[in-house]
Amino acid sequence: MSDVESGNVPMVSEPLNEFGSSWTEDKANMVFDYAKAYLTAMKNQRFQLLYFDGFAGSGDVQLKDDTLMESVALRVMGISEPRRFDRYVMVELGKKKAGSLRAKLNERFPELRDRTWVIEDDCNAQLRNLSEYLKANQYRRVLAFLDPCGMQVDHAAVETLKDLHADVWILFPSGIGANRNLFRDVAKMKPENFKSVERILGITEQEIRDHYYEPTLFEEFPDKRDGGIERTLELYRTKLQLLFKHVSKTKEIRNSAGGIMYHLLMASQEPLAIRIADHIIKKYSGRK
Ligand SMILES: C[S@@+](CC[C@H](N)C(=O)[O-])C[C@H]1O[C@@H](n2cnc3c(N)ncnc32)[C@H](O)[C@@H]1O
Repeated sequence: MSDVESGNVPMVSEPLNEFGSSWTEDKANMVFDYAKAYLTAMKNQRFQLLYFDGFAGSGDVQLKDDTLMESVALRVMGISEPRRFDRYVMVELGKKKAGSLRAKLNERFPELRDRTWVIEDDCNAQLRNLSEYLKANQYRRVLAFLDPCGMQVDHAAVETLKDLHADVWILFPSGIGANRNLFRDVAKMKPENFKSVERILGITEQEIRDHYYEPTLFEEFPDKRDGGIERTLELYRTKLQLLFKHVSKTKEIRNSAGGIMYHLLMASQEPLAIRIADHIIKKYSGRK
């Protein structure tokens, strides 16, 4: 199994933008800005607010210049004004990373210990739990951040949030995940390539064949690479719209060679949430 198929995508160098920050910092700043705006919008509401970080990491991230940046989880927990989240759920599959995160959170935020959970588990299992948590009480609201390094998010798990009150930021592996598994020549597609694309997009092998490889009247063998990533992104947005009603614009994340790796986007039941997300995406786009 290749690294891509296993979801273990190797580190790629990050282009810096004109302000000297990398896409890792931009991504973290965008979710942090949204969390602040979310808590401001919710400050007078009676909802129980939960922050769910599905790929929480170890507590810090090493940047290209060897400096350390705090993980989004810690930064969000640091927001206290105008209000805090009522609960924080941090999911991290790696045992050592989960331990390190737990230690950092205990040290930095001892006062939040009884409302914080660091769960060593697969994010997909915890997304299913999250949907049960939301269904159990109509006054619950969730801000979720899904920040995989590869293709670890199963669309079937995201589907469990259908019609529920979750604002979900997703780092979608449009380039490093979907597109790398879709070969120009469909005959070269192995069952595991179909499976990978099926899993992250929530579609069947037949739908993949129809969407990417169906011959048209005018072009017997269309090249899936012509706009392949855009096509995948549009398909993904359409799938999300069936669950959340509203989907934000997207921020492209490219590697140093200019290739698209991911798209960062947000889905919500609330049009206001999307307006805020779009504003943030615009602010951080076109800066490279
Ligand atoms: C890109 S990093 C997340 C960085 C983090 N958001 C931060 O701000 O520091 C992805 C993390 O997800 C973890 N991971 C990988 N597969 C996972 C899974 N299926 N469920 C939960 N965590 C997973 C990895 O160990 C890694 O720490």
